[in-house]
Amino acid sequence: KKLAVFVSGGGSNFRSIHEACIRGSIHGDIVVLVTSKPGCGGADYARDKGLPVVPFPKSKNVPDGISPIDLVAVLRRLEVDFVLLAGYLQLIPVELIQAYPRSIVNIHPSLLPAFGGKGNYGMRVHKAVIASGARYTGPTIHFVDEHYDTGRILAQRVVPVLANDTAEDLAARVLKEEHRLYVEVITALCEERIIWREDGVPIIRSKE
Ligand code: GRF
Repeated sequence: KKLAVFVSGGGSNFRSIHEACIRGSIHGDIVVLVTSKPGCGGADYARDKGLPVVPFPKSKNVPDGISPIDLVAVLRRLEVDFVLLAGYLQLIPVELIQAYPRSIVNIHPSLLPAFGGKGNYGMRVHKAVIASGARYTGPTIHFVDEHYDTGRILAQRVVPVLANDTAEDLAARVLKEEHRLYVEVITALCEERIIWREDGVPIIRSKE
């Protein structure tokens, strides 16, 4: 399968996905990196690996910025099967969602629907989890719809919150699990092991 990864930041999830593709545990290839921040660490890593980088900033008036329609055209030309958001901080335009039904996934660093939604990203999520007194958190991978963090949940993993955790401690513990979970889920996506239950809930079928 052909994969497009979208990043806005350091891109550690992107790196772990890329490494899993290279070693063959994911039966897929990253064919393009799309970024809202062309100077971010993830974009630098992609250029370093010789992957095409497509800038897709918030406003199409920004130099180099392309419109959602043009972005869809680029992804189609590259025959992209799945779009993987990995620390991508912009809302996905409706044109893209319609062009790729049930094919766009995001990773969020809390157990959705808790601690999600607009403004809940990065360290803010972990601070809010600690402030709430929750004893467990962890990554969620979900399909993407036109809102922040509300699409169908595909996979989650529980990570404990320890009594003396700082937001940074917790972020690091969750991030480690993000890397594992995202690779597992993308492996399943590429092997067509997602089953859609009648009520619209996606389930991952384990390998025979
Ligand atoms: C991760 O915590 C992810 O869940 C969130 O943004 C962060 C991205 O980290 N959506 P990285 O850029 O992959 O290191």
